[in-house]
Amino acid sequence: MENELKLLGGAMVTLAMATSAMVVVPFMQLKDVPAPAALKPYTGQQLRGRDIYVGNGCMTCHTQQPSSTGAGRADAQRGWGRPSVAADYHYDAPPLLGTMRTGPDLFNIGARQPSADWHLGHLFQPRAYVADSNMPAFPFLFEVKDKSAVTSTDRVVVLPAGTVGYDQAVVARPEALDLVAYLTGMNHTYPALTPGEAALAAQARARSGGAGSATSAAPANNKGAQDVVK
Ligand code: HEC
Repeated sequence: MENELKLLGGAMVTLAMATSAMVVVPFMQLKDVPAPAALKPYTGQQLRGRDIYVGNGCMTCHTQQPSSTGAGRADAQRGWGRPSVAADYHYDAPPLLGTMRTGPDLFNIGARQPSADWHLGHLFQPRAYVADSNMPAFPFLFEVKDKSAVTSTDRVVVLPAGTVGYDQAVVARPEALDLVAYLTGMNHTYPALTPGEAALAAQARARSGGAGSATSAAPANNKGAQDVVK
């Protein structure tokens, strides 16, 4: 019996240590990180679009975490933006980091591609824009109508010639417009505090009696942030 108790005790201590190292300590470090001044909260439309992003599995192919280390070094060169810091995700619950990059990182897609028309058309048929794209088309976010049936309130999508029949028009459903509002709003190109600057700002807040704490620096995995901060 004694051995079983030791085994159980050991397992519980290991679990407690792992929980505090991976959940409690990071939470204490990051819970008071304020939103960057330049980061706007989501609008209602963007939040609906975010749900559509989740619901359609965009995350299975797209990340939202540009990096500057390892394979991520190419991100900045490609213009995908500086490495993200914890504060960038202030309004995301949960952050949609993603792990697979079958498609490009989308954390700054709103800065890279601000055209709503491009996004709508690309969602309707990616291969009309990128010939060998393996992104699925999302035609159910649109309605294909006879041109003669288009009404003045319809949002007609401007498509490359030949994508649909000459007498047809593609009209965006509200879901497509919400999703595109979310995508074009994704812009984190403002300068971020380096971990050192974030720690200093937190100390200043703590001294002035604010809600901040001296531990609310950016996470250690953003060490490279200094390299590309503008
Ligand atoms: C099976 C994987 C896959 C899925 C699922 C997927 N995509 Fe993509 N996506 C890609 C690939 C590959 C590309 C690059 C080729 C292209 O532009 O079509 C891409 C490109 C993009 C681009 C252009 C990026 C750029 O830098 O030009 C956007 C925006 C985008 N996807 C949004 C979405 C959204 C929104 C969803 C969900 C509704 C989604 N994708 C689902 C694979 C995927």
